[in-house]
Amino acid sequence: MDFITLFVPLRLKILIMDLQLEIKRRRTFAVIAHPDAGKTTLTEKLLLFGGAIHTAGAVRSNKIRKTATSDFMEIERQRGISVATAVMQFEYHGIKINILDTPGHEDFAEDTYRTLSAVDSVIIVIDGAKGVETQTLKLMNVCRMRKTPVIVFINKLDRESKDPFDLLDEIEKKLQIKVHPLTFPINMGSRFKGVYNLFDRKLNLFYSENKQTLDFETVEFTDLTSVELEKYIGDDAEKLRSDVELLDGVYAGFNIDEYLQAKVAPVFFGSAVNNFGIKELLDCFIQIAPHPQKTLTDIREVDPFEEKMTGFVFKIHANMDPNHRDRVAFLKICSGIFERNRAYTHVALGRQLKFSSPNTFMADKKTVIDFAFPGDIVGLHDTGNFKIGDTVTEGEIINFQGIPSFSPENFRYIENADPMKFKQLAKGIDHLMDEGVAQLFTSRFNGRKIIGTVGMLQFDVIQYRLEHEYGAKCKYEPLNLYKACWIKSDNATQLADFMKRKHTNMATDRHGRNVYLADTAFALQSAQTNFSDIKFYFTSEF
Ligand code: G4P
Repeated sequence: MDFITLFVPLRLKILIMDLQLEIKRRRTFAVIAHPDAGKTTLTEKLLLFGGAIHTAGAVRSNKIRKTATSDFMEIERQRGISVATAVMQFEYHGIKINILDTPGHEDFAEDTYRTLSAVDSVIIVIDGAKGVETQTLKLMNVCRMRKTPVIVFINKLDRESKDPFDLLDEIEKKLQIKVHPLTFPINMGSRFKGVYNLFDRKLNLFYSENKQTLDFETVEFTDLTSVELEKYIGDDAEKLRSDVELLDGVYAGFNIDEYLQAKVAPVFFGSAVNNFGIKELLDCFIQIAPHPQKTLTDIREVDPFEEKMTGFVFKIHANMDPNHRDRVAFLKICSGIFERNRAYTHVALGRQLKFSSPNTFMADKKTVIDFAFPGDIVGLHDTGNFKIGDTVTEGEIINFQGIPSFSPENFRYIENADPMKFKQLAKGIDHLMDEGVAQLFTSRFNGRKIIGTVGMLQFDVIQYRLEHEYGAKCKYEPLNLYKACWIKSDNATQLADFMKRKHTNMATDRHGRNVYLADTAFALQSAQTNFSDIKFYFTSEF
């Protein structure tokens, strides 16, 4: 027996002993927000505190800007950069933190929904002046569906904001979750003095001239009645005393279990661009946020502490180089230890695959790793084997759940614009659908192919990528539809009747399942009323 064969199993044995420890010290989460609330800024500041980056700007480059709605070339450029920032890993006080990046642009909301399937908790950023916005609501609905614990960070207190009590009420009502402020702001805008930490009973003082410092002055302040308070925050002392009295009355004792059960959201106030309030957020986060949790499959729940490796692909990223059609598949490890060069089962393909250069990501660089633990995200070099949602195991035939496609709301017929490139077009469309860029339906009425997307930008992205990566040309024809939804029924007669009556609106998805293409909200509503034995599904997983 040579040295390697002796050495590797021994090393693995030690790692298995470490498995428990490694799982318990991991936190995998995403920062979500309505565009412009400060997600990119906060992410960057978390990385700064974690020592993963040393200058501002490293994450910013990944941002798909609002102004880019028609400028998808810019998106293509940024897509390249975002491979590196898709997952950002850093260590803070012995805790290994994996931040999963989510696209800022709302046309890519579906990417965000899928990323949420791979996290154990989220931080929601809210702009203090704007309060709860539409995208925040949608994302929160997904978190609620998945019972993901959330922490709220109310940002931009250095600007004129809504009244903090009103904000707390608004969050509670609109996001439908009880809130529990753990810090509270002292004034706002140009009069912003800092926050009072209700948990540690400390005063964190804000001086706007100290913009880029990471250490703000913190004063222990258990007795707010002390006249010393005036020394620090002047006229605002009286208001803080009455605010804290009120808060102590309304929000008694923070209960971590309620947070972990997604019943209560702790709330922090601060200013990301000024690094203010981030340390409190991060310190609390590492204490309360959950380590990797159980994940549901079609057969059973997988516990991260199980020794056998399991994982699923939640994101696929195409290579930017048009000469190489390879991609990166992002595998979330759900249990056991992932090892480089070990053969794993790709459940959907029923094949064994080995990965010789799996990557992890650290801000702007990627590194080849030998092992990865539950909660980690591993980038796998892929030549077309993976689809979103694919499960990888040590042989067990299970499929992880909770990575659905959402019913699209924008539709176009897609046609081949270059008859010589039919094969390339078919292959390109197939690959792009595997990546989850859009969904492909075939009309049962006329056999034409229909592309359905969540955002309008995807149409441009598809056309551009087909041409530049596959050498194929497509053209679109408008199609006015309201929504696509999957239908199923135990009442075969009613289903047959429905499909006959609606035959011009029936299609199949890539898996041959029945899809109803509703023209209008009214048509959908009356279909639901008139065909009560038919179930209409708005995500592909049912
Ligand atoms: P997003 O990823 O959620 O879309 O938001 P992002 O972090 O890019 O922040 C949006 C804008 O808000 C940025 O300004 C950013 O500098 C600003 N911002 C973030 N946090 C704060 C804060 O605490 N206070 C104030 N006053 N502004 C904040 P921008 O002008 O769009 O970009 P830039 O020129 O600053 O890069």
